[in-house]
Amino acid sequence: MKLKLVGPDHAGIECDALILLEFEGTPRPELASALAPFRESGEITGKFIEMTLLHSLPGHKARRILLAGAGKQDKFEVSSLWKLAAVAARLLKGKGVKVAAIALEAGFDSPDHVSAAVKAVIEAGWEPDQLKTNADKDGSRQIDELIVSVPAVTKSLEAAAQAGEIIGEASNLSRNISVEPPNKLTPMALAAHAQAMAKANGLSCEVLDQDRMRQLGMGALLGVAQGSAEPGAMVIIEYKPAKPAGDVRLALIGKGVTFDTGGISIKPSEGMEKMKYDMCGAAAVIGAMQAIARLKPSIAVTGIIPTVENMPGSKAQRPGDIVTSLSGKTIEILNTDAEGRLILADAITYAKQLGCTHLVDAATLTGAIVVALGNNQSGVFTNNDELLGQWMSAAKSSGEKMWHMPADDEFRELLKTVYADIGNVGGRAGGASSAAVFIKEFVGDTPWIHVDIAGTAWLDDAKPYMAKGPTGIPIGTFVKLAQNWK
Ligand code: BES
Ligand code: ZN
Ligand code: ZN
Repeated sequence: MKLKLVGPDHAGIECDALILLEFEGTPRPELASALAPFRESGEITGKFIEMTLLHSLPGHKARRILLAGAGKQDKFEVSSLWKLAAVAARLLKGKGVKVAAIALEAGFDSPDHVSAAVKAVIEAGWEPDQLKTNADKDGSRQIDELIVSVPAVTKSLEAAAQAGEIIGEASNLSRNISVEPPNKLTPMALAAHAQAMAKANGLSCEVLDQDRMRQLGMGALLGVAQGSAEPGAMVIIEYKPAKPAGDVRLALIGKGVTFDTGGISIKPSEGMEKMKYDMCGAAAVIGAMQAIARLKPSIAVTGIIPTVENMPGSKAQRPGDIVTSLSGKTIEILNTDAEGRLILADAITYAKQLGCTHLVDAATLTGAIVVALGNNQSGVFTNNDELLGQWMSAAKSSGEKMWHMPADDEFRELLKTVYADIGNVGGRAGGASSAAVFIKEFVGDTPWIHVDIAGTAWLDDAKPYMAKGPTGIPIGTFVKLAQNWK
């Protein structure tokens, strides 16, 4: 998509459609007479996400104006603009619009707003139709050019627009990987995606195969992998800044279970097809590393992807098995469906062995987080308030919603077992927190964030702002965290 940032004269932009925001209670004065009948009839109120497509309005060069209801001005956040721009872009691409413009006026013209609008339009172009053979694919209608009008074109807004584009493209890359079916996206195929991304963006990438992982002692990951005919892997992607600011080395770790049957503790068949999404954390890391390679933040970032297929094959691990993790700690497998925390345990230990100073993991980890937070907010767990502050502000500025959840030591009690150092499940009560505290066991004192994206990584039904399927979350926060590092 072509991208252009222009000054405040949005009425003079020649385009197929111009998106204008209309806040509730503050009707746009310049359209007062043209829109009077709509406003009187209650057709245009400015309610959030209300969309009105108008043709050839006086005084405007745009062929159409899309009046986008923005809701109450004091409730309008970066995430609101992202959603509004996404709805608008999906509506316009459906109408065959090729050149679109959006006016970001004073008050919502910050770098975060500009980034969010651009990212939204790029993400709105994505459709999950890669494997449809029909020529009339859903994604064939695309916006080719976006013009963003702002009160004043500055270097920082130019950079923000470009960052929005880079992050939007990274998000779509990650969604393309996540939507692949599990017969094609095996752990090795996921590793190949990471390698291809790294090669295309000048990053180094190493894939540890099963033999190497056995030598290293990654017993927790290998225990999960052994139930599948497809071998598991650990992928390490490196970004090194030209002039590093300090000794920080941030690890971004993503759960890469290419399919989660539950293993011997097998899941019910209904809805099991969704468990191809259990590698969305890994795909977000691949996307984030691409964006980081292009945006070049000043800290070193290491992407780490433990990847396996959780299958109940004849060699599968059993409930009752005890495995020795890379850390040396023994784990009693009480439920083979709690596999994500097992592969993350070894990934986290490995990240620390590599010298990473800060750890962030993203994982579709628990059904319990979906019960607690639903599908709009990801659950955030930490052992470090300062890193939490950085993470939450990165989330806010990227428009991804996150909610801080407890990972207190009290939950450790639930994981006690007489036969090993720790058990891999802690019962139904507080299930998302006991999962987080299981991971924390391997983290030690290193500052760490765990994001449970089980409820947010996948949209079960298409929404006006997004196609059904992977959402790319938490790519925006990953990238902002690295970019804004203090
Ligand atoms: N990948 C799942 C998480 C999940 C489950 C996401 C259901 C969405 C819906 C994870 O590996 C898992 O199976 N977790 C179990 C843990 C339990 C056995 C302690 C869960 O949440 O049911
Ligand atoms: Zn599972
Ligand atoms: Zn899983």
